Amino acid sequence: MSEDKGVTDNDVAIPAQSKGAAPTEDAAPGEVLLKVSGLQKHFPIRSGLLKRQTGSVKAVDGLDFDVRSGETLGVVGESGCGKSTMGRLITRLLEPTGGTVEFEGRDITHLGVRGMRPMRRDVQMIFQDPYSSLNPRHTVGGIISAPFKLQGVEPEGGVKKEVQRLLEVVGLNPEHYNRYPHEFSGGQRQRIGIARALALKPKLVVADEPVSALDVSIQAQVVNLLDDLQQELGLTYVIIAHDLSVIRHVSDRIAVMYLGKIVELADRKSLYAAPMHPYTKALMSAVPVPDPKRRGMKSERILLKGDVPSPISPPSGCRFHTRCWKATEVCKTQEPALVELKPGQQVACHHPENAPDQAPGEEVLPEARESIEVVTIGEAVAEESPAASEAPEEPAAAEAAEAAEAAEAAEAAEASQASETSEASEASDASSGAAGAEGESGPDDTVQESTDK
Ligand SMILES: Nc1ncnc2c1ncn2[C@@H]1O[C@H](COP(=O)(O)OP(=O)(O)OP(=O)(O)O)[C@@H](O)[C@H]1O
Ligand code: SF4
Ligand SMILES: [Mg+2]
Repeated sequence: MSEDKGVTDNDVAIPAQSKGAAPTEDAAPGEVLLKVSGLQKHFPIRSGLLKRQTGSVKAVDGLDFDVRSGETLGVVGESGCGKSTMGRLITRLLEPTGGTVEFEGRDITHLGVRGMRPMRRDVQMIFQDPYSSLNPRHTVGGIISAPFKLQGVEPEGGVKKEVQRLLEVVGLNPEHYNRYPHEFSGGQRQRIGIARALALKPKLVVADEPVSALDVSIQAQVVNLLDDLQQELGLTYVIIAHDLSVIRHVSDRIAVMYLGKIVELADRKSLYAAPMHPYTKALMSAVPVPDPKRRGMKSERILLKGDVPSPISPPSGCRFHTRCWKATEVCKTQEPALVELKPGQQVACHHPENAPDQAPGEEVLPEARESIEVVTIGEAVAEESPAASEAPEEPAAAEAAEAAEAAEAAEAAEASQASETSEASEASDASSGAAGAEGESGPDDTVQESTDK
């Protein structure tokens, strides 16, 4: 558990759990709860009158990772890199094209609806958009009690009592049982979504952008609530987010995804202190410095110039080579494997950063030199005021920090808009409750050639 996960002024009181729905036997903390090997999801592209398959969107293209009991695995990466698809694959809302998913040592990759029913209690998902993921025609009581009905579970004391207890757990008034979603704010709605996900006392909760649709002021409350619930209920999380500040706060380990693959997987401290994959380094350079004393000091931000390549025909070799400033011929032709280069730090790169042999031995490709722009932030302040680290924050420094934060807020807003498309399909899954999401993707599984991704 990360030390950043301190409880702050937004603490919520968590009442003792009643003897409720589905008693679960937790795996010992640190044991592997979920094991993913070679996981793939290729969405077919169909065109023409006969709807023949003419290609595929390689949304997820060979993921290998474990999730350990009691930990939070953060998943980060640019829009379209396959984060949501990964989340929906491990919760079995989508049928994988290849690879395996094991939960508590049991292969659940191709379990049918009936086989998955008991697993649905243990694996739950929280969705990004608290507005579209709650059915507006159902009361809060109806929404949170849906998983009990779908699973045929009768909690001790009855469903209503249990739902009211859950409302209290997530910091809502149990008296609001009969209200409708539109009578709640965005943050309160996300709490309702969390209560629904917790109804059956799951072991693993996959949260897809749980706070990106919320105001910054509300984000902290929901993040702290997730933290508190993890400590109280011993939950294991996979949290998907764009916001690197959120990821840093919540995660024990972090997986960085690029174009359907994990390029780096490391514990939080190592990743933030010494990222090894060039893509991770570029992402990290955009994170505002949290220490006010260090704000305004000279720091370099790496701006990747090229567009994200299409997952329909990803680049050969290392998928990042078209945007990497260190790319060499070998990067173009040979795909680097994800290997452990330092204890607890797995990286897929031929010329990793923060490693003894990080300088490419061969000639860097000419186009690679043009692939990034390095922007120095806070230079003027650092030069004018050498004691900036000790002195109170200068106005110019504050401006630089504010600008970085504003840029990040704008990015977050853009990102949440960008993920609306995939959320639309998830919302329909979500609104029918946990077990309601048992159906496979069906028509959602295919895409017309006109797709822009
Ligand atoms: N049902 C689908 N049919 C076809 N393509 C899909 C489908 N769902 C996702 N994709 C494609 O798969 C790729 C990965 O999408 P995904 O939603 O997993 O990305 P993401 O990392 O979650 O992005 P964001 O951060 O914007 O939410 C995208 O190119 C997307 O267009
Ligand atoms: S150095 Fe090569 S292998 Fe490493 S990220 Fe850059 S292009 Fe990929
Ligand atoms: Mg997404």
